[in-house]
Amino acid sequence: MELGQYIIIGICAVNVVWGCPQQCHCKDNATFCMGYGIKDFPSPIPSTTKSIHISYTNISSLKPADFDAFSETLTKITINNSRINEVQRHTFDKTHKLTTIVCSGTELVSLPEDLFQKLRSLTFLMLSNNKLNKLPSSLLTSLQSLKILDLSKNNLSSIPENAFQDLIHLEKLMLQRNGIRELQNGTFHGLTKLKILSLQNNNLKVIPGNAFEDLVNLETLHLQNNVITNLPAELFGHQQKLQKLYLSNNQLSFLPEGIFLKLPNLQQISLYDNQLQSLSINTFGPMLLRDLWLYDNMLTRLEENVFSNLTHVRLLVLTRNQISHISPGAFNGLNELEEISLHTNCLTSLDERVFRGLPKLVKISLENNKIQYIPEKLLDGIHYLYQLELQNNSLTSLPKTFLDSLSNVDSVVLTENPWRCDHGIVPLQDWLKKYPDKVKNVTSVVCFSPLDLRNISIINLFSHPLPIPTFTPSDNSAVLFEKEELIIGSLEMHMIITAVVCTVAIVSIIICVVCWRQNKQDSQKTVI
Ligand SMILES: *[C@@H]1O[C@H](CO)[C@@H](O)[C@H](O)[C@H]1NC(C)=O
Ligand SMILES: *[C@@H]1O[C@H](CO)[C@@H](O)[C@H](O)[C@H]1NC(C)=O
Ligand SMILES: *[C@@H]1O[C@H](CO)[C@@H](O)[C@H](O)[C@H]1NC(C)=O
Ligand SMILES: *[C@@H]1O[C@H](CO)[C@@H](O)[C@H](O)[C@H]1NC(C)=O
Ligand SMILES: *[C@@H]1O[C@H](CO)[C@@H](O)[C@H](O)[C@H]1NC(C)=O
Ligand SMILES: *[C@@H]1O[C@H](CO)[C@@H](O)[C@H](O)[C@H]1NC(C)=O
Ligand SMILES: *[C@@H]1O[C@H](CO)[C@@H](O)[C@H](O)[C@H]1NC(C)=O
Ligand SMILES: *[C@@H]1O[C@H](CO)[C@@H](O)[C@H](O)[C@H]1NC(C)=O
Ligand SMILES: *[C@@H]1O[C@H](CO)[C@@H](O)[C@H](O)[C@H]1NC(C)=O
Repeated sequence: MELGQYIIIGICAVNVVWGCPQQCHCKDNATFCMGYGIKDFPSPIPSTTKSIHISYTNISSLKPADFDAFSETLTKITINNSRINEVQRHTFDKTHKLTTIVCSGTELVSLPEDLFQKLRSLTFLMLSNNKLNKLPSSLLTSLQSLKILDLSKNNLSSIPENAFQDLIHLEKLMLQRNGIRELQNGTFHGLTKLKILSLQNNNLKVIPGNAFEDLVNLETLHLQNNVITNLPAELFGHQQKLQKLYLSNNQLSFLPEGIFLKLPNLQQISLYDNQLQSLSINTFGPMLLRDLWLYDNMLTRLEENVFSNLTHVRLLVLTRNQISHISPGAFNGLNELEEISLHTNCLTSLDERVFRGLPKLVKISLENNKIQYIPEKLLDGIHYLYQLELQNNSLTSLPKTFLDSLSNVDSVVLTENPWRCDHGIVPLQDWLKKYPDKVKNVTSVVCFSPLDLRNISIINLFSHPLPIPTFTPSDNSAVLFEKEELIIGSLEMHMIITAVVCTVAIVSIIICVVCWRQNKQDSQKTVI
């Protein structure tokens, strides 16, 4: 016999002595039963058992007799991943000391409505990941001590209006991943101690305006991944303590005025993946918000002062909207802003004042727009900029003053712009040569026009053996001149011009002197 078999026999012997069922393990008043071989509720369970844990079994039903032997001591029961499809009435009538019930991963479709009526001490009830499709309205009415209720990942499509009304100590209510279609006015009535409410991944379309009226201690509210089309203006009127509000992935096309005005403790909000077309002032009140995620919406404009109460925001994400206009004062008030993402929008221009008053900016993302021109003073007053993304725009050149303001930047991305390599490119070229390490993929910053310089790296323009410009009658002599100037380079040009001028001057003087002397000799000759 092998050691393992001895151990098993040993354990079985001990179990028999202590009255622990086969396939279970009993230790310190806790009993653990596991294995698909278990088809009936294990027995005998030691009468001192305080907690029982049943997992991965083939038990199909729970009945009152199962708990008879240890009902006086039982405080905790955990059942998971078992094939239970029925819990009989009165099963928990005698287990009145129960504080915790976990029942998840079963086949349960429903529960008897008076199942928990004797459980005055129950504080934790987890019924997630079953197949419950109906919540009897009186199922939870006696659970006055309940603090945590988890009904997530079931098949509930509605919640009876008074289902939670007696849960006056409830702090955490999890209803996510069901198919809940609507909430009643009074669904959360009386839950004044609730701190966390999870309603994400349901089918909610509208929410009654007074649904959250009593939730004065709410700190976290999950409403993301529903199909909410609009929010009543007064919905969050009583959530002074709310810190986290998740509304992403819904179908909101607007936010009513005043909606977030009374949330002074809000630190996080998610609004991405909606259909927001505009933001009005009077949307955001003073709050502690640090990040604002608004990507994947349909915003077209940002008006003056829309964010002006958000004085703590550090990250503003407006990516993937359709923004074509940003008012000069749109970002007023965002004194702490460090990072702004505006990429993949429809911007063609930016007002030079748009980032004024954002002294702490370290990162600006503007890629994938159609920006044609960057104002010289765009970065005035921004001293800590670290990263600037301008790739995939419609830029043909950058002004020198703007480039000079980039001297502290660590990374600039400039690829995929139609750079025009005429005299206007000189400031950019000089800058690239001075700071090649600041530019990501610097050799991919290439000319787009004129055609015969296309795809030539701007930084290599001078040293590149340029194709000899072939002069044809249609060629524009100005372009030719510009090209020559580029080939020669502005500095070299200056020196050459100076040299030529000097040479001409010296030669002229020599010629003059020679002529004068000859003249003199000639005249002397004539005189003589
Ligand atoms: C088990 O329960 C009994 C009776 O309540 C108690 O006397 C004993 O100390 C408990 N043992 C442990 C290890 O908790
Ligand atoms: C558990 O029950 C399922 C379905 O009734 C059955 O297919 C499976 O063989 C059972 N497992 C054991 C170990 O009896
Ligand atoms: C199932 O129960 C066991 C024992 O109580 C526990 O350790 C495990 O985390 C549970 N698994 C799930 C998925 O709830
Ligand atoms: C959920 O309940 C509906 C009826 O309300 C039923 O048609 C559907 O099959 C159930 N889904 C699951 C996964 O049990
Ligand atoms: C919900 O409350 C509002 C305002 O108090 C009321 O007008 C409406 O009729 C109520 N709806 C239901 C279904 O009770
Ligand atoms: C800022 O908050 C105040 C007070 O809640 C509000 O009256 C004002 O309209 C808000 N401003 C903006 C621009 O939203
Ligand atoms: C460039 O930006 C446009 C939008 O302006 C976008 O459709 C396209 O996918 C972007 N190209 C790349 C390579 O990211
Ligand atoms: C740099 O440019 C090359 C050629 O355009 C491209 O294949 C590569 O992915 C770029 N690298 C980075 C880091 O952008
Ligand atoms: C420039 O480069 C692009 C992509 O690398 C290529 O498709 C195009 O043909 C090139 N144009 C010229 C004029 O070389």
